[in-house]
Amino acid sequence: MRNDDIRLASRLLIRVLRGESLEAAMEVSGAALASARIRAWVYGVCRHYFSVSEQLANICRTPLTKLDREVFAVLLIGVYQLTHSDAKPHAVVSESVEAIKRMHKQSAAFLVNAVLRKVDRDFRPASLSGKYELPEWLIEKLRAAYGEKFIRSHLACLNSRMPQCLRVNQRKISPQDFHAALRSQNIDFTILREDTTVRLRDPQPSRSIPGYSEGWFAVQDASAQMPVRELDLQPKLRVLDACAAPGNKAFQLLEHDVELTALDINPTRSAWCETESSRLGLPLVITEGDATNKCWWDGRPFDRILLDAPCSATGTIGRHPDVKIHRAPGQLAALQDRQVRLLSNLWDVLALEGVLVYATCSLLPEENDAVIGQLAVANKDVRIEPLNVHPSERPLIVSREFGAQIFPDSDWGDGFYLAKLRKAKPAS
Ligand SMILES: C[S@@+](CC[C@H](N)C(=O)[O-])C[C@H]1O[C@@H](n2cnc3c(N)ncnc32)[C@H](O)[C@@H]1O
Repeated sequence: MRNDDIRLASRLLIRVLRGESLEAAMEVSGAALASARIRAWVYGVCRHYFSVSEQLANICRTPLTKLDREVFAVLLIGVYQLTHSDAKPHAVVSESVEAIKRMHKQSAAFLVNAVLRKVDRDFRPASLSGKYELPEWLIEKLRAAYGEKFIRSHLACLNSRMPQCLRVNQRKISPQDFHAALRSQNIDFTILREDTTVRLRDPQPSRSIPGYSEGWFAVQDASAQMPVRELDLQPKLRVLDACAAPGNKAFQLLEHDVELTALDINPTRSAWCETESSRLGLPLVITEGDATNKCWWDGRPFDRILLDAPCSATGTIGRHPDVKIHRAPGQLAALQDRQVRLLSNLWDVLALEGVLVYATCSLLPEENDAVIGQLAVANKDVRIEPLNVHPSERPLIVSREFGAQIFPDSDWGDGFYLAKLRKAKPAS
């Protein structure tokens, strides 16, 4: 029943508003499988959270923080449907009222009815936050980092719908044969880079793409493929993927026939790579270890290191709209502290003339250039290398002092930051 869907969706939303990730909440409830509509509502509320809350706050006499959480969730879903879907207004109102009654909140039925009847389908948010569907603090930080003109033209890209990009697994099939297989199934695609990255015109379940079971491809954004491409890999090099789980970039590394050590502190995330490892035919074992210390190290330096660091994930808001609700500026200092500790520890295990690529999916300078800056101040042997990615390749690549900031977009996927560092020989 539709109002049961509202009940289930509101439960999910409450979990997300309490801090659980959207993906985890969906997985636990099994709702992802149960109903595409529930999924659309919960994702939709998160995507439009700031404008929907602004309109609700304008209508409700009670401050939103004082509303009963279930009532708040039902109202968010109702306002979202009224403003961002073509659902019939009277149906949305009556089903929401029915749903709140079934949730044993009889006394709130009048409020739900009164509030939803006042919703303006053409509401124009007054705040920047509502206009751009982003938290105020994030807009301020991006403005300070990239300037007013840039953010006015590019803020909207943070909420872009993300593409489905594939990386051809060259251990299994040549790019040309894979392209031919897509064409034979009338799947429309664009080749993005070096024939091995394609973007599908219409996203679809991975399992229905030719060669899924045979492991012909991995699903990976074009932007997420860049850090490994910057490592100048050759067969037999000794490579460390220091924050490897769930293994997307480690599989890309393994296609190059390198001697890989993959490390991650989180065994649950690491276990996720097992199925993918057998599907792709790329043997990956992620060792449990903390890359801020050297307990896991055998003492032999690495020729290449990938540090795909844990971060605020502010470049992934298009795909994970809950990130903009969960992140707070107060979290950034701890993230930066961990990034600096990871980078300085890993610098010690890099061979002379070795290359380290530092990557995050954050758009914030404090997690990116500022981290590299701290390493460079503390170590005389840090040499910043030019990147192969170039602003002319894509409109939203911004050169920074040490690396490059790639903004999210609907062609290449999530936003990323990259910097490439070489350990220079000491001057004699
Ligand atoms: C951005 S994710 C890595 C994604 C992965 N490289 C991929 O492409 O699939 C960051 C990872 O860092 C791990 N991590 C966080 N702190 C760590 C630490 N001190 N040592 C090792 N791994 C850590 C997290 O468990 C998480 O899996």
